[in-house]
Amino acid sequence: MVAENVTTESPALAPAVRKPRGERARRSRRGKLPGRQDWSSWPHYQSAAAGFRGYWYPVAFSSQITGKPTGVTLLGERIMVMRDKGTVYALKDRCPHRGVPLSYGSQQFPGTVSCVYHGWTFDLKNGDLVAAITDGPDSPICRKVTQPTFETAERLGMVWLFVGDGEDAPPIDDQLPEELVDNPAVVGARIQAREGNWRFAVENGYDEGHAKYLHRTALWRLFKPMPVWNETRIEQRGRWIYRVQEKQYWDAEFEGLGRWTGQAWYKKKPPKTVTNIGNTSGHREVNPAIAAQEFPGFASVSMPGVLRIAYPTFIHYEFYVPVDADNHLYVGVMANFASGIKTLPFYAKYLGAVRWLFHGQFSGQDKWMVEVTDAPPERLYRPDDSLLQWRKLAEDVTEERLARLAEAGLTPEDAEPEIVK
Ligand code: FES
Ligand SMILES: [Fe+2]
Repeated sequence: MVAENVTTESPALAPAVRKPRGERARRSRRGKLPGRQDWSSWPHYQSAAAGFRGYWYPVAFSSQITGKPTGVTLLGERIMVMRDKGTVYALKDRCPHRGVPLSYGSQQFPGTVSCVYHGWTFDLKNGDLVAAITDGPDSPICRKVTQPTFETAERLGMVWLFVGDGEDAPPIDDQLPEELVDNPAVVGARIQAREGNWRFAVENGYDEGHAKYLHRTALWRLFKPMPVWNETRIEQRGRWIYRVQEKQYWDAEFEGLGRWTGQAWYKKKPPKTVTNIGNTSGHREVNPAIAAQEFPGFASVSMPGVLRIAYPTFIHYEFYVPVDADNHLYVGVMANFASGIKTLPFYAKYLGAVRWLFHGQFSGQDKWMVEVTDAPPERLYRPDDSLLQWRKLAEDVTEERLARLAEAGLTPEDAEPEIVK
């Protein structure tokens, strides 16, 4: 999806399409169209169409990765993933001999993978070419070729890969939401390949305005009232930015138009006080592991695109995984901080309702919007401060990473020169 970056009007065509007076005046004053024509205020973010390098990303459920090679695409790179004696390994998915995907291959010797075409055989641990089967045991090419490898980890029942620029991968636990590392939890997850740029998915997830309006028709929200609008501010704590709700307006009178409300007779009554755990009601007892986090706001986001929505009894996460510039993986995770027998009601609720209503229909509305979003250009409004702060976070954190790389004498993979979205 390549964006027309700047929309300018050819002078020859201008008389045919006369702009209204006010707009022409604004254009001539500022020399450009009103609104934001590109994302050049956030150059790293703008050029990260295929994702940010230097992070761990979930790519599949652990159960999907077996001794049979599987191909995945992450940040535009094709990667072969397979399991050997319980451990997951990942190698660049292009045989250096003639460019055939290694993921079409198979295992002929323990600890290795062999290319389907001529049997070049690579050590899974370090990528060394240890045999070229069709050139006999003494093939001189052996040990002269090394296939790039990727670090792997397994967390939350999923396989994670690290894609960097030669730096050591940070511990994956430093990147996961802290409460998931420190507390026992049961999780229900959904991984879905979706169309659209990963940044539209993050921005949709953290966007303040849409949940109250787009999702008002979702069955998941059927009995829950939604505010018409909120007063909010964004607060940074550590590597997360939180949206703090200061005021919620459940009804509003639009002058000359009428009243608009997210309430109805069949919905629960709105809470009397503003809540920052869950977005509609604060009356349920909050799970101690969630309460202990003292989240300043119920919606938070961190790099490289992790959304966290804290409810009284569970936390919902979304990991937006860049596949390439036009596709991403939606990874929805619902975590219940309980262990033993107390996990049973969660399983029942997840399989009976959450999986279909929340990870299914509700989240399907987001999927649709991410597919059809087309920005920049864009004309942002007050609730989009969430988007601006997220882009700023991405920019700041990337500056810090680039400084660390420079210090280590490493060069990041070239940013994409063209402006893509
Ligand atoms: S292309 Fe892989 S062995 Fe020839
Ligand atoms: Fe949404």
